[in-house]
Formats: sequence, structure tokens, C-alpha cells
Amino acid sequence: MLRRRVLNSAFGAGHSVRSLSTRASNILSKFSIRPDAELKGVYDGTWRGSGEVIQSVCPTTGEVLANVRTASPAEVQETLAKTREAYVKWRNEPAPRRGEILRQIREALAAKREDLGALVSLEMGKILTEGVGEVQEFVDICDYGVGLSRMMNGRVVASERPGHSILEMPNPLGVVGVLSAFNFPVAVYGWNLALSLAAGNATIWKPSPTTPLCSIAVTRIISQVLEANGIPGAVASLVNGGKEVGEAVVESPGVELVSFTGSERVGRIVGQNVASRFGKVILELGGNNASIIMPDADLSLAVPAVFFGAVGTAGQRCTSTRRLYLHRQVADEFLGRLKTLYGSVAVGDPLAKDTLLGPLHTSTACDVYTQAVEKLRSLNADIITGGERYQRDGLQGGNFVQPTIALPKSVNPKDGIWSTEIFAPILNVAIFDELEEAIEWNNAVPQGLSSSLWTRDIRNVGRWIGPAGSDAGIVNVNVGTSGAEIGAAFGGNKSTGWGRESGGDAWKQYVRWSACTVNFSDAAPLAQGVSFAS
Ligand code: UN1
Repeated sequence: MLRRRVLNSAFGAGHSVRSLSTRASNILSKFSIRPDAELKGVYDGTWRGSGEVIQSVCPTTGEVLANVRTASPAEVQETLAKTREAYVKWRNEPAPRRGEILRQIREALAAKREDLGALVSLEMGKILTEGVGEVQEFVDICDYGVGLSRMMNGRVVASERPGHSILEMPNPLGVVGVLSAFNFPVAVYGWNLALSLAAGNATIWKPSPTTPLCSIAVTRIISQVLEANGIPGAVASLVNGGKEVGEAVVESPGVELVSFTGSERVGRIVGQNVASRFGKVILELGGNNASIIMPDADLSLAVPAVFFGAVGTAGQRCTSTRRLYLHRQVADEFLGRLKTLYGSVAVGDPLAKDTLLGPLHTSTACDVYTQAVEKLRSLNADIITGGERYQRDGLQGGNFVQPTIALPKSVNPKDGIWSTEIFAPILNVAIFDELEEAIEWNNAVPQGLSSSLWTRDIRNVGRWIGPAGSDAGIVNVNVGTSGAEIGAAFGGNKSTGWGRESGGDAWKQYVRWSACTVNFSDAAPLAQGVSFAS
């Protein structure tokens, strides 16, 4: 899905000045990104980059926004070493002091919230309000990290031996590698950075090769705070690049924890690699999320929620709604209302105020969309709405596709059309008669990220959230599948990878737990009453 154009050296800094659209240059100028300059994509206290050049391509217009120098293999190793050095210093800062640095990062990000949100919208393609919302998510998790810095409590455990105490202490873990995806080019890094810094770790960030500008803008903001406080910049390192750069981070024995967001295919490789060197891993992989609509659901809330879940972010959230299970009694009415909303969707420049549907991130994603629709057609699915790329004036330069609702002939969740995550706005619908059947369908796919039930009957809620209910990590009631807050642990089960990030107990993965039995007494008895005297 990710498109990366590697340029030859002739297309470098000396190239003639390119003209950019005003919409792009207005935003880039806020970050002092000049269209003719080649940006350095590596930071470890100083900015550099001597690897291949990658291009940031605008998904809305197809124009090249900037050229970015990635990390060479040697630079990745140097940055890894610098990050470890930074960790060795940073881990000695008291946690509340680390929280104070996070507070300053939070303030710096909040001051740039609108500009950074616009950059996300420009480079990733999501609509402006979602771009700004994503930056807000980073701000929120910084707040959370500040609080956490005074609350990462261990425990004192009762010892069976007189005059002994057992402490369970959270210590810093080391270097955390964060490999993030294009769809949340700011927030997902934020979730990891905030917890990691609070815990006393240093991070090395390998962003998606198609959103380098977001990573550079964020790292510039953070590095200024670090440097102003005399903290080594490599506490929050950045290595832009492709597959090889990611592999180097994943394979490095000096990276104690790898947090990876991306496809199930790549996640499997990452997971196996990290496990083979006994490292720790957090995987946030595919979602294939369902909404279930019961006959007593409040449709005035449920229909717009499904619309946002399936069409929002052009269907490119891990939490996007991809499957819709409608109770027979409300199926016609629900589909009628949903189709009306689909028909009214404002499509266009994601930066424009009224737009609800922006482009897909890459042209490859459009191909994936087209193939998925063709597959549905070949299986005689009823395409209720959508199914084509947009050909309208003004949309040809971008990766615009029609949001699609399909009613496949088969309702078998094991069939490929139901069991595969397609990262595009395609919603498959099936009709059920009993809640048990819908829950079974919900759970029958390999993935288990998010799920949503719409009902006003408390008995349905009990079934849904209990032992025989949804097996996803996120189990919502009268709330859509996407748009989780940072306070709860975010993540999914089964082939989604079992990772947890953000709130809840997620921070506990970012520390090294030390179980310390301390003897304050004048005797040294053995546990379990064992006698070892001669
Ligand atoms: C993702 O799609 O990878 O719940 C993250 C949500 C957002 C995060 C999604 N808060 O939709």
C-alpha cells in the first residue's frame, strides 16, 4: 500500500525551484519547509540524513510536497547508539521531572495544534477536523503521561519471612522502537512517546515512509523542548526510511521494546523477529470491525455513527467499521437512511471546511479498493451505493473513491470478503435474526480490534460485554467502532496482535519490573521453611 519513490541523486538540492499549490505552501511554510529544499529525515540530537531520498506526495493533488533524506544503514546504527546513550542519562531523571518535560512538550504541541493538524490533513489526506483531533490525542496522552509520572506505583508485598519486605518496582526498560503507520502519523507515536518518556525510556521512531513531513514537524517541536532543558535530543530520535530502516530497528538487540502498528503480514514478521531475540513487542495490526444493530436501537444515533465509522478517515482507521450486522426488523429502514447519508457526503479537499470525505492515502490503495469491489461484484454482491473511483472535476489528481455499501450473497464470516481487512471505505452488510448469531459472526474473523452494539436493552448489553460476548479489545455499546479516547488501553486481540497502548495499564509494558526481597533482620531464613544447615 505504501508508495515510495526513490530518486536518483540528480534530483537533489540543486534542482530548480518547484511551484507548489498555495494550499500546500501555506501549511509547509508554517514549518519552514521550502519546496526546493531537501529535508533531513534523521534526528538524534542533530539533524542529518545521507540515505536515499523519499518523496512526500500529496494524496489530494498528487503533487510532491517535499524530498526527504532518509537514514543510511550506518546512520541507523549511529542513531541507535545515541538513543541508548540518551537513555542512560534520562533514566536517572526522577519520574516527576520527566513529567515536567512532557508537560512542556504538551504545551509546545498544543501551541501548534492547528498547524500540525493541517499538515496531517495535507500529507495523510484525512479531513482537517480529524487531523487536528489527532494532534489533540497527542496532547491528551501527554497530560496522561504527566499524571502518570507521579503515579507509576509499584507494590509492597507481604513476605512470609520475619523482618523481610518484598518490593515490586517499575524501573525504566531501555530503548523503545516505535514503527508507526501512515493513517495516524502523529497520535500513535504520541501514545508511545508519552508513556515511554514517563517510564524513563528513550525512543527511536521509524514513521511510515509516506508521511515523513509529519514526523519531522513533530520531532522538531519535541527536540526544541528537550534541547532547551539540556536533555539529550536522542531521548526522542527519528529515523526516516523504508523497509531496511525498520528492519534494523526491529532486529537491534539494543531495542528492548518494539511497538509496531501496521498490517498483519508485516506484524507477523516483526513479532517473530523480536521474539527470536527475546525482546518485547506491542503489535497493533489489522482491524475488521463490526457494528451490530438491534431492533430497539436508537437509529437517529446509530445511523450517523455507522456513517462516521465506515466513511470517516475514508475508511483508513484500524478501527473503521467494515462489517454491519442489521437485525431483520430494522434492516430496510437502516439501509435506507444510511444510503441517504452516503449520497450527501461532501467529497473533496480534506482541508476545506465542509469536506467529509478526503482521498485515500496512495494510488495503490485505490487499486486495492477497486480489486475489492471487483471481487464483491464477481460474487454477485449487491452494491447498494458507490463502487467506483470519482471522476468528477477537481478530483482526478487525487486518490478519491466512492464510499461503498455492499450486501454480499454469502454471510459466512470465513469467506475472504468478510475475513480480510480492506483499508478503504467499503462496508459489507448482512442481516441476522438473533443476537447470538451476530455475535458469532462478529467473533468469527481472525482480527479482534473494535466492535459496537446498538441496543437499549440491558440484557443485550450484558451478553455483549460478558464472557460469551465480543472477543475484540474494544467492546462498545451505543458508540461506534472508531474514535476511542486515550484513557482506556487501546488494542486488539487475536490477529490484531494483543498489543495495548495509550491508557489503562498499557504503561506497565514500558517498564522493567524488579521484584526485590529486602531482609531488614538479623537472620537469613529460607522461604517455604527450607532448611539448609549442615
Ligand atoms: C488507528 O487507527 O490505528 O479509535 C488508531 C480511534 C483512534 C485511534 C485509531 N483514537 O479510531
